[in-house]
Amino acid sequence: EKGGYATFMEKEIHDQPHAVGDTLLGRTDSDGRLVLDDMSITEDQLKDVDRIIIVACGTAAYAGMVAKYAIEHWTRIPVEVSLAHEFRYSDPIASERTLVVSISQSGETMDTLMAVKHARELGALTLSICNTHGSTIPRESDAVLYTHAGPEIAVASTKAFLAQITACYVLGLYLAQLRGGTFADDAQSVMKELHEIPAKLEELLGRMDRVKEIARFMADTRSVLFLGRNVGYPVAMEGALKLKELAYIHAEGFAAGELKHGPIALIDAGQPVFIVVPGPGTPHELHKKVVSNIQEIRARGARTIVVAEDGDEDVVPFADEVIRVPATSPLLAPLLTVVPLQVFALHLSTAKGLDVDQPRNLAKSVTVE
Ligand code: F6R
Repeated sequence: EKGGYATFMEKEIHDQPHAVGDTLLGRTDSDGRLVLDDMSITEDQLKDVDRIIIVACGTAAYAGMVAKYAIEHWTRIPVEVSLAHEFRYSDPIASERTLVVSISQSGETMDTLMAVKHARELGALTLSICNTHGSTIPRESDAVLYTHAGPEIAVASTKAFLAQITACYVLGLYLAQLRGGTFADDAQSVMKELHEIPAKLEELLGRMDRVKEIARFMADTRSVLFLGRNVGYPVAMEGALKLKELAYIHAEGFAAGELKHGPIALIDAGQPVFIVVPGPGTPHELHKKVVSNIQEIRARGARTIVVAEDGDEDVVPFADEVIRVPATSPLLAPLLTVVPLQVFALHLSTAKGLDVDQPRNLAKSVTVE
């Protein structure tokens, strides 16, 4: 059942090309229009949506944070991401023109379920992005978009995360098409690029030997920081979460732009820092800005482990290690850049002799509030 791998987590990391590919399957009809699953929300209602709130916990919330950048860019609908337990007890504002999108692998997370129920009480439209057919959250929602990652057994989420991002992107592109904004015509070309991700993931998974080695050398490390900007920011937080869960190491993800507002004080000689670098084609010169962040922390002695696109030579002078990922458009990059971080956490946990699939104190689905 582990498909020849030592752990479920390792298997599930290698399932990721399929998780993305299968989640995209059957989403385009013969006219190139996108299709969703069980929809009791009408197209007219969706055309009228003036706000999206994504509710989720943990890794699923990071998928939502990634999606916010893309959905806002494509649809110009304001998107908010709320941790489900914070949403539920914060007196949130929602109306019949608010689309509350819940993201949950298990479909049983109590915090997320309570948020969805509350959203319905407020009169919002609820759409569930979920990996488990027939689970509670989709049953309590007006519409469902299933991720097809297959069963995820390891407690730490990997392939479900990629499938969640993919499903959110399908939703965003669907809304863009439906509402016919300036971006509508580009939706198909983004879909085409999304379809190229599984092959890029296969290629990337074949290049993880150096990441494994780095993890093995770092078995005694006590703290690791992760930096990213834009869609790389939630990726940094996801990298940190994986490391906390699996290797019981103190880890934190930061928005790279926030560094000089405090966290840079943490940098001293030898502090390992992963930096998720946006591709050179990223708008607003973010690539250049992150390269200068790397330079700043390197100057203060950090050990810089840089996740950068193939061909990005600008990072080389400031990197102690460069982990290469295949190039893709900026908004799709998280589907690739998170993989080395997952692999790193897996192998660091293994190097410490820990139980990768069943970390201490954690359960696969959290069915209490
Ligand atoms: C992290 C992890 C958790 C879950 C969170 C939500 O590796 O597994 O953070 O992502 O508990 O779970 P679901 O998606 O089942 O609602």
